[in-house]
Amino acid sequence: MLRWYDTNRRDLPWRRNRDPYRIWISEIMLQQTRVAAVLDHYARFLRRFPTIKSLAAARESSVLAMWSGLGYYHRARRMHQAVKLIARERRGRFPRTAEDWASLPGIGRYTAAAIASISFGEAVAVVDGNVERVLQRLHGEAQGKEAAWQQAGILLDRKRPGDFNQAMMELGATICTPRAPQCPLCPLNLFCESRGAERPRLQAARKRQAISYALARRSSSLLLVRRPAEASLMAGMWELPSLPPGLTNGAVPLLQLRHSITDTDYHVAVFAMLPDQLHDAATNAQWFTYRQCQRLPLTGLTRKVLRRLALASNDSTVESICR
Ligand code: ADE
Repeated sequence: MLRWYDTNRRDLPWRRNRDPYRIWISEIMLQQTRVAAVLDHYARFLRRFPTIKSLAAARESSVLAMWSGLGYYHRARRMHQAVKLIARERRGRFPRTAEDWASLPGIGRYTAAAIASISFGEAVAVVDGNVERVLQRLHGEAQGKEAAWQQAGILLDRKRPGDFNQAMMELGATICTPRAPQCPLCPLNLFCESRGAERPRLQAARKRQAISYALARRSSSLLLVRRPAEASLMAGMWELPSLPPGLTNGAVPLLQLRHSITDTDYHVAVFAMLPDQLHDAATNAQWFTYRQCQRLPLTGLTRKVLRRLALASNDSTVESICR
């Protein structure tokens, strides 16, 4: 595995050194999110918050603004809480063992083991979805999560645990993929019970949902609405005011697009509206200049809508909202 990893590993920005702060951010961003989607955000996030001190000193809304588009915003909130805790109570010193890492907010068994093994060389194995699939195919049967942790621990290379863990994840991400695994290229081919024969899990049927948004502009400002602090998704983030179904019957949208979040495909239509047509948006609604929007934690969908509108109208001011 290590030989394969040494020649085949992708050159990813968090693999250039073992700085725990940088590894930590990468591991949190990579949860439930593909590498390709993380790359841009990772670079921008580190430019804005290059050190743990700078992140600890930031306001939560600035952190969320930099996270905008990655989704699963509780990850950013909890990481920010943990960073502040380290700055305040540990004088900026990182934990060194997986056990200590796991005592921080937002750090579970996987993340604790990933950071401790990659940054500090602790001999602890990780199991994520990729590793679980690799092991399941290797052994020719599903064994359950706990058994996967045990087996990963047995296979772990104790001299290079961080590289071994990343090799297992890398194999799952690039060769031992859920569909159409490339078994002839696999370094475990000779030992593998199933040679890729694991039946892919049935995909849950995707849901479809229509949403309409209002775009109300006043000179160079936009009307945005803040999601409730207690919302289960994207709490406290800003988005365009939504319009009840039916209200827009017959109207021609400024823009239509699709947006997928987890198991739902949203069919989104955006309508130009005058501010006084939007009575119901009044609570939690606020005007922001385009410049202010740049610093705001916008939902990923709102950012996407604004970006598309900017491109459509060639308006570089609006375009800059979305970088
Ligand atoms: N997924 C999450 N962290 C990873 C890493 N360090 N290498 C490969 N895949 C990963």
